[in-house]
Order: sequence, then C-alpha cells, then structure tokens
Amino acid sequence: MYTDETLLASIKKVEAKRAANAALEPRRMTADEKDQVLSTYHPDYIKSQFATLRIGPNKGDKVPLELADLLQGRSRINPKDVDLSHVDYDVDVLVIGGGGAGASAAIEAHNAGAKVMVVTKLRMGDANTMMAEGGIQAADKPGDSPAIHFLDVYGGGHFAAKKELVYKLVNEAPEAIQWLDSLGVEFDKDKDGVMITTHGGGTSRKRMHAAKDYSGAEIMRTLRDEVMNLGVPVVDFTSAIELLKDEKGDCAGAVLLNMETKEVRIARAKTVIIATGGAGRLHYQGFPTSNHYGATADGLVLAYRAGARLLYADTLQYHPTGAAFPEQIFGALVTEKVRSLGAKVVNCDGDVFVHPLETRDVEAAAIIRECKGEHKGITTPTGGMGVWLDTPMIELKNGAGTIEKRIPAMLRMFAKYGIDIRKEPILVYPTLHYQNGGVEIDTNCESNVRNLFVAGEASGGIHGRNRLMGNSLLDVIVFGRDAGKVAAARSKEVQVGKLTLCHVDAFNKERTGAGITGGTYSPKLLPDYRRPDMNKEATYEL
Ligand code: FUM
Repeated sequence: MYTDETLLASIKKVEAKRAANAALEPRRMTADEKDQVLSTYHPDYIKSQFATLRIGPNKGDKVPLELADLLQGRSRINPKDVDLSHVDYDVDVLVIGGGGAGASAAIEAHNAGAKVMVVTKLRMGDANTMMAEGGIQAADKPGDSPAIHFLDVYGGGHFAAKKELVYKLVNEAPEAIQWLDSLGVEFDKDKDGVMITTHGGGTSRKRMHAAKDYSGAEIMRTLRDEVMNLGVPVVDFTSAIELLKDEKGDCAGAVLLNMETKEVRIARAKTVIIATGGAGRLHYQGFPTSNHYGATADGLVLAYRAGARLLYADTLQYHPTGAAFPEQIFGALVTEKVRSLGAKVVNCDGDVFVHPLETRDVEAAAIIRECKGEHKGITTPTGGMGVWLDTPMIELKNGAGTIEKRIPAMLRMFAKYGIDIRKEPILVYPTLHYQNGGVEIDTNCESNVRNLFVAGEASGGIHGRNRLMGNSLLDVIVFGRDAGKVAAARSKEVQVGKLTLCHVDAFNKERTGAGITGGTYSPKLLPDYRRPDMNKEATYEL
C-alpha cells in the first residue's frame, strides 16, 4: 500500500499521462545511444568492481570482485585427508545440480541407458529454473524462423556469442518446446490449441511461449516429475566441493559434502555434468537478486580449479525490473512479460523515457540513468530508488481481466502488500538476475577438461555479453538434454583410471606462488546473511 505523500503525488502524475503514454510508441535507441548509456550506467562498466585473476586458466582476465575471491579461494578439503580408495557412488554420469539443466541432462542420460545420479545441495527443483516467469523462446510460428531467432540472440548479445552454440540453441528450440509439451508442461494455448506467443525485449518476432507467469515453475515441476518417474537417484542436501580427475587428467567424479552431517563422500563417474546454475546470491555490487537461494557460482569454482576455462565471466545481467518496493520483495523478479503485455516504465513525472522492450542491459542502464543521472527516479519509502512500471496500462490496452489471466503471479505478489497492480503502478529497479558467462563449452557441452560437461547458466558463450528473455529456459533444455545424451554416449567408451586430487594440490601451489594466502573457502555453497560473528558455521569449513 502506498501511503507516502510524495509517492501519491507522483502516482497522480502517472495517472494523468497514462492514456497518452499507453498510445505512445517510443522510439528505439540508436547503436551509439545504446553504447553511451551502457558505458556510463551499466554496472558491468564500473571498473573498480572487477579484479584481475592472478591464477588459473583465465589468469589476467577481469571478473567481479566477489567471484575473483571464490575462484582464487581456498579448497574446503586438504587432498591428503581424503580417502580416494573408498568409493561411495560409482556411476556413468554424475549430474551436479537439480535445476532445469540438471534434470534435462539426467532424463536424457537415463533414457540413453546410462547409470545416472544427480546430486543437489538443496532439493531437486530448488533452482533458478523454478524462479523463471516470463517464458521460453522458440521460432515455431509462420513468419518466424531459427535464422531470425539467431539474429536476435547474436545481436542482443553484442555479437560476442559463440555462433555454433547460438546455431544449436535456435535450431533445436522448436523441438525443445515439443518435448516439454509431450512431457506435460501446460503452455498457454488459444481455443484451437495453438500456443500463445508474445514478444520479449530484443525479439523481432512473437516467439515467447509461456505458462502464465510461472513458466519456469511449470517446466521445473514437469522435469522433476519425470526424473522421479524414471527412478533416477537424487542425492539431495549434498554439494560437490571438488571435482575428481584420473591420472590422465580427465574428469572422473566429485568429492561430495553432506550439508547436514558434513560427511564427505566420493562419487566416481565416467562423465560429470555441471549444472549448478547462477551467481545472484553473490550480490555483485550490492545488488539485490531475483535468484534462488543456492545461486552462488559453485560450478564455476569447481570447474576452474580443475582447469576449465571460463568465458565472459565479467558480464552479468541486471534485470531491468526487480521489485523496488515493498521491502519484503525487494529484488524479486517482475517479469518482462509485464512490459511485453503493454506496461511502460515512467519516471517521477509520469514521462516515458525508454522503449519498454529494449534489450535488458540497455533497459536496465536507462533506468539507472533516469534515477542517478537525470534525477527523475522515485525515492522508495525505504530509502531506495526506483521508477514506475505502469501496470494499469496493460488492461487499458488489452481489456479487463488480462492481468489476472496472463500474469496472476505478479497480481498476487503485490496484492499481498496491498498493491493492486491493475489499478496502481509499481516501483521497480534493476536486480541481479543472470550470469551471462560461465564455463566455456563446445557444441557437445564439453569443457576443455575431458569428460567434464557443463549445461545451463553455469556455461558460457551461448548468449555472448547479454541474454534475451526466454533464452535461458531454452538453453537449459537444449543444452541440458544434449549434455545428458553426449555424456551417456561418452561413458560407454571411458575407463576411469586411478582417482586423484592432484589438480587441487597444483592449484594450491599456484595460489602460494602468486602470494595468495588465506582467503575465502570455496565453493561458497550457500549465501551468508548472518552477522559476521556468526559466520564460522556458515562457511562449512571442514
Ligand atoms: O522477465 C522474465 O520473465 C525473465 C525471463 C528470463 O530471464 O528469461
């Protein structure tokens, strides 16, 4: 509920201009204007927030300060103390991570006849996939094509993506939708059974398929059911804390930590798939996040210490519209679908200052500029910053009932706090949403470490330096499935040699050589929101 006098006065201005704003077709920024707003206001361009890596495969590259700390951090184990002669789990394919990519990989690896096991530090489905709202892209309608989808992805990612990965993403997208449909995902369909599709930021065709505004939850529900129905073993509340290699230097499993008992277990595997998701809970630059509680970049740390190269780990996605108020939902995702359905972002005077569907990095930077550069933002009742997202425009444009029907999760999220988004605008500000980069992969999802595969948000190269809405749910399905198939096939030809943790010893040596002592234990595993004097327990120090 809004009670603050200044806010109420600003809302009056928004209401007065609503009809005119709804009819307005704001122009798109030119390439130069985009470059200008990005370089001045996007958080990725704030040099002081990045550190140069001193060790590891990406030595010399810049990554966010918090990530550098973890990538160069201390292992949770001393290799000497780990008994590798006793193997607790012995599988063909070890999937690390229980989100959309991990589940898709596990399903396909199982279907290919491999002995699969999933380990996940929380529970199956506790992942960013579950939090995704707006939809999943696929060029499967007349007037669209994978080629047009390719151009959108490649341009939206600033021409930095690996073309062969984009090619795969867009070409396998229609089949991914069919697969999900056949598994039981309840996509929005019209009365003839045709899937309803909408625009997202930077899409030149309406190709966003959705299940209202809980698309990710619906997809994750379906995938989780399938994993359970197939009887794939899932070891939950268990983290991977180091990868294992064999004497050939190939990936050969992982050291696992039971999060409750702190017992260490050894999983030997012919192939390993990292599907650990993103990093929002590292709260880069102090941003709130739309991410799941477990999003702490663990996969990047595991892979890096084992010698895998990262790609574009310096580029993050700040979703333009995180909830800026009320504070109980600070940083929570306000889906892009809200803008796709017709809501525009407006400043304290009720003026439209940016096209609502610029690509995410540009839209976010424009909102930050409006607040910090133009001083036309709104100070929230809790002292933060925001702009209005004028949600009542949606029904002005599409008729009464649209919000309830198409974005019921948004309606409910704000209604809990006395805000009716059908009648009142909402306050939004960018929130840390996605890690654009990750472990570099080839078209088989394999890293430069043999038998180490990576899928989903932990991988890098598919989206270049900026991802478009709906291409993450897509990549977890396309690359998750493929990782499972390829890893299962590979496992048939692999003979695992003697297990070793020599790479951890080598990494420790490199740390010492670079003068790095002490430091943070990594992977981080869980965010720590406790008082500093209570931190010890939360480190999962062994
Ligand atoms: O805005 C959204 O619904 C987010 C979608 C995505 O990140 O793909």
